[in-house]
Amino acid sequence: MECRRYSENSKNNLMNVLGIETSCDETAAAVVTNGTTILSNIVATSLKEHEQFGGIIPEIASRKQLEYIHTVVEKALLKSKLSLKQINAIAVTSTPGLIGSLLVGTSFARSLATALNKPLIHVDHIKAHIYANFLSHKNDPKSKAKLPAIALVVSGGHTNLYLIKNFQHFQLLGKTIDDAAGEAFDKVAKILNLGYPGGPAIDKISKQVKSSNITFTCAPMKNTFNFSFSGIKTAVLYHHQKNNHAKSYKKSQVAYAFEKSVVQLLVNKCLEACQKHNTKTLLVGGGVSANSRLRNFLTKETAQKNIKVFFPSMKLCIDNAAMIAGLGFHNYKHKSH
Ligand code: KG4
Ligand code: ZN
Repeated sequence: MECRRYSENSKNNLMNVLGIETSCDETAAAVVTNGTTILSNIVATSLKEHEQFGGIIPEIASRKQLEYIHTVVEKALLKSKLSLKQINAIAVTSTPGLIGSLLVGTSFARSLATALNKPLIHVDHIKAHIYANFLSHKNDPKSKAKLPAIALVVSGGHTNLYLIKNFQHFQLLGKTIDDAAGEAFDKVAKILNLGYPGGPAIDKISKQVKSSNITFTCAPMKNTFNFSFSGIKTAVLYHHQKNNHAKSYKKSQVAYAFEKSVVQLLVNKCLEACQKHNTKTLLVGGGVSANSRLRNFLTKETAQKNIKVFFPSMKLCIDNAAMIAGLGFHNYKHKSH
């Protein structure tokens, strides 16, 4: 992080952070005050351009981001009703992500910070997904997430389980040893010819049935907090190749069985981690946290164990810059004291 100090609005002690996020196909900008109040949250996506390829094409993503970034930042400022002068710092996703895409966001943010003589704050995208929970619940103090907590990040590129003591202390307990959960959803949707991105498609089609006579099993990865999803993806592929010409074959049943097993593994590991670390708060984030079955099942299971589970609002589950500006505020405060 740059050590340039921001000139705080000393009258009201408010810190307005402009967040910029360009780690994958989205180009996003947001203005957040003091890490909690979202003044604006603008997201542009190039998803349509990638659909025909069944996945994100990095070259297309970064070209579109170059095209969009100026307008998206302008819109975020306009919506926030703040001028650039009133922005105290700029936070940007610096890792992880597609290298060309990250370069667009970080170069833009660095140039703006230099021109305005404001601090530039680097933010980790994965940790920011968890931070999204602290934005969503800001209005109701009773339902506010508290630390320490166990946190699960389930996105297109990551499946990580953390113990979080504070925003600067994320202890990695386990992660996927092969495919990420979202990646498995996307690959299974491709096998079933359901389009891209696969997560929402599987979520939708699996709701058409209440049960399935097919069973898939994720490797349990016993005695660890690691995950594995490549085996189940291969099992779905073989099942599909063997059965898809049969009259009784139903994609919805395959999707249901796949989703059920993935969700079961995610839920089991979260509950085990809460128990082992004696934690009564569970935070979930990342694109897969939008999954209905995961939300329902985790809500039910945690209630029985007196654990409070938090999910970001749907808008904050997907990649966005409000979570970057929010965590950026804490990163800045921590480093500058
Ligand atoms: O966090 P995210 O927006 O981008 C990354 O940082 O990767 O996550 C994208 C992933 C994709 O794999 C997508 O299929 C998955 O999240 N996803 C879902 C759902 N909505 C998005 N997976 C399951 N159910 C959903 N409803
Ligand atoms: Zn993400």
